[in-house]
Amino acid sequence: MPNARITVSTSAPIGAVDRRVFGSFVEHLGRCVYDGIHEPGHPTADEQGFREDVLALVRELGVTTVRYPGGNFVSGYRWEDGIGPKEQRPVRRDLAWHSTETNQVGLHEFVHWNAKAGSEPMLAINLGTRAELEALDLVEYTNLPTGSALADRRAANGAEQGFGVRMWCLGNEMDGPWQLGHRDAVDYGKLASRTAKALKQLQPDLQLVACGSSGRKMPTFGSWEREVLEQAYDDVEFISAHAYYEPVDGDVDSFLASAVDMDRFIEEVAATIEHVRAEKRTDKQVFISFDEWNVWYQRRYETVDRISGDDNWPRAPRLLEDVYTVTDAVVVGSLLISLLKHADRVKAASLAQLVNVIAPIMTEPGGPAWRQTIFHPFAITSRLARGSALRADVAAPSIATERFGDVPAVDAVVTRDGERAAVFLVNRHRTEAITVEVALQGFGSPAVSETAMIADDDPDAANTVDDQDRVTPIPNESASVADGVLTVTLPPVSWTAVGLTATD
Ligand code: AHR
Repeated sequence: MPNARITVSTSAPIGAVDRRVFGSFVEHLGRCVYDGIHEPGHPTADEQGFREDVLALVRELGVTTVRYPGGNFVSGYRWEDGIGPKEQRPVRRDLAWHSTETNQVGLHEFVHWNAKAGSEPMLAINLGTRAELEALDLVEYTNLPTGSALADRRAANGAEQGFGVRMWCLGNEMDGPWQLGHRDAVDYGKLASRTAKALKQLQPDLQLVACGSSGRKMPTFGSWEREVLEQAYDDVEFISAHAYYEPVDGDVDSFLASAVDMDRFIEEVAATIEHVRAEKRTDKQVFISFDEWNVWYQRRYETVDRISGDDNWPRAPRLLEDVYTVTDAVVVGSLLISLLKHADRVKAASLAQLVNVIAPIMTEPGGPAWRQTIFHPFAITSRLARGSALRADVAAPSIATERFGDVPAVDAVVTRDGERAAVFLVNRHRTEAITVEVALQGFGSPAVSETAMIADDDPDAANTVDDQDRVTPIPNESASVADGVLTVTLPPVSWTAVGLTATD
């Protein structure tokens, strides 16, 4: 059995773990909103039609922020459609997903739902088919105290107090040719800068996210970030990154190493931020909002799911309803390790998405809600990863992959918050178990407080409506600490979290 050795020192902190890294995403897409979080006829529905069983799972997932209402949807969205009496709200064609949007859920309902979910709303502004004026109107309506037309309209619609939304995305994936209002980087950067300046005249403490690349493989990746930031660096707090992973042509080894791609993506965007920061001769630091990431079987969407046809505009169709396996959950766990390893750069992130659409939570109309495999590493990491992330120096056997060359079979990160610490580990090897020794320097006399592992004899096992708990976390009984060294064996294709108490 091969071994790996990891050294962690409390004297080498990467940065504080921003709780907003455990965000998620609700888009008006498929059954994420309608028949997902919202189903008025469901036995658990609250007075506004939101499913309490789904809310309980969202709380258990430990989601801190929720990005809304898109995604591609936002680039054709008129926010005014979603306010006021429901019976007067217009029905529209959603061009992004070729669906019918009834607008029965809008801003007020989403804020109500967030309060119950215990999460913070992160709103996206339409900068595809709209511009500064509509953005100003939306922020005035959402946040400002009464005394002006739109804030008073909010009060008339039942919310005297502003909603206090602090994070706003300046459009969505504006680098993508599929996006309504797609434009080049300089054009978008100027629009983002103008919009940000206008919004901050209205409310100076907003935190604004400029669109970065919708993927590291985009032909404009790199120059897009540089050109956008050259226009808007002084005006925004974040630049976004989006990444979705899937096995391509059965290449599971590369898929299991997806976090190597995420590592490089983050480091390249960080380098570009530093480049523009040097050009601007400024001390201001822009951070990364990794506000869409997940496993997504995108080729299935392109070949099976995509809706077309002049007379075919379904309401809440079943779209992007990927069923996740053990392998997918291990990849999601490793992507969380990547985000934490870059805690100095990534200060917000959103698992895309939350319910039914490439989601950790699934529902059936009138029926149950259940956890997909990917639910578990997210929920456990959100619960245990507190305080600061610490660098873990990993010496491990390597795996040859087609996409990334040789990659270490094991990856890890450690977090520490006073007396509580946690070690997160992944074994990407498909056939070999690996025993890891983690030297915990500066942890006093650490002891194991809990363990949780995703591993299974069948890496393709999944949770379904008929077998909702086929895959659940199990303890990793091998974990023990002696003389400040944690020893733990990681089965093939597995993700493990070890909670520790530390005394120094
Ligand atoms: O999350 C699904 C879609 O992926 C989003 O709408 C879009 O932003 C991205 O391309």
